[in-house]
Amino acid sequence: MITNEVAVIGGGTMGNGIAHVFAQHGFKVTLVDVSEAQLEKALGLIGRNLDRQVNKGTLSEPEKMETLQRIATATSIEEGVKNAGLVVQAATENGDLKLKIFSELDTFTSRDCILASNTSSISITRIASATKKPEKVIGMHFMNPVPVMKLVEVIQGYHTASEVTSEIVSLSEKLGKIPCLVQDYPGFIANRILMPMLNEAIYSLYERVAGVKEIDDVMKLGMAHPMGPLQLADFIGLDVCHSILEVLYQGFHNPKYAPCPLLTNMVQARELGVKTGSGFYVYTPGEKTLTVSPRFALSGG
Ligand code: CAA
Repeated sequence: MITNEVAVIGGGTMGNGIAHVFAQHGFKVTLVDVSEAQLEKALGLIGRNLDRQVNKGTLSEPEKMETLQRIATATSIEEGVKNAGLVVQAATENGDLKLKIFSELDTFTSRDCILASNTSSISITRIASATKKPEKVIGMHFMNPVPVMKLVEVIQGYHTASEVTSEIVSLSEKLGKIPCLVQDYPGFIANRILMPMLNEAIYSLYERVAGVKEIDDVMKLGMAHPMGPLQLADFIGLDVCHSILEVLYQGFHNPKYAPCPLLTNMVQARELGVKTGSGFYVYTPGEKTLTVSPRFALSGG
């Protein structure tokens, strides 16, 4: 990286968390989104998440203000990435759109700029093929909530240069994260293991082996998971889970990864979890108690 300037593409959940963490660790960040309203929402959320850290005593009020001052916004890629030494793309999990964004990034960034994707499952090698510098393209997969989760899955594409990988590994450490290096195969490691588990939990509900609360309690109380798999699927977004399972299914040509029909139905019914207010649970703003969706209230084993 030739500068300490970073551009983050996408002001959604992952994009705002990534911008937050870079800015907190001294980087100048430009957060890019086509929607001005989304950028405002993202800045508001970053402010509130920094407040949590101030309240906890892990960040001082002046540090919070400095962090916020290090974040600028832009509504065009051309404007947002012009001085960046690193771009982290966190905009969309749609493969074709991602390729289009990377081809634009290729046009508007300097030759030395590293292009990272926060993709949860789309091939880095495929994304890199949309650019003229595939050796500079790498995966930097953060976990949600980004300010809290320690892991960065660093994904080496077919052409990624080893110096680029080393740079991203040490950069992740500078962000207070623990990088884990993986090769570019469907789902990498995190989602290759996580998604079949979530899908199996959904199958257990679909086949009425147990109810929502029981399935989640087994994994929370028996395996010390912070969230049960159905709550976690709601938290990630059922559409996101579905599309990652499709990538695994099509990438390995193995039916064990096929999304459960109940998951497909819920996605088609736009019951996507926390973001739509309803999934396996129902979500009311400000309400901390988890309530099983009435649709599944009587489905217990
Ligand atoms: N920013 C800053 N701090 C945050 C935060 C945020 N966005 N969200 C939560 N926190 C902090 C809180 O301040 C709190 O701090 P203290 O405990 O020190 O006070 C702590 O994190 C825990 O938060 P809460 O008390 O609100 O709630 P919780 O104890 O239930 O924890 C959780 C919430 C951290 C999300 C926890 O439930 C958890 O770890 N869940 C599993 C998350 C997970 O698996 N993430 C990976 C998803 S997969 C993915 O991201 C990638 C993919 O490709 C699909």
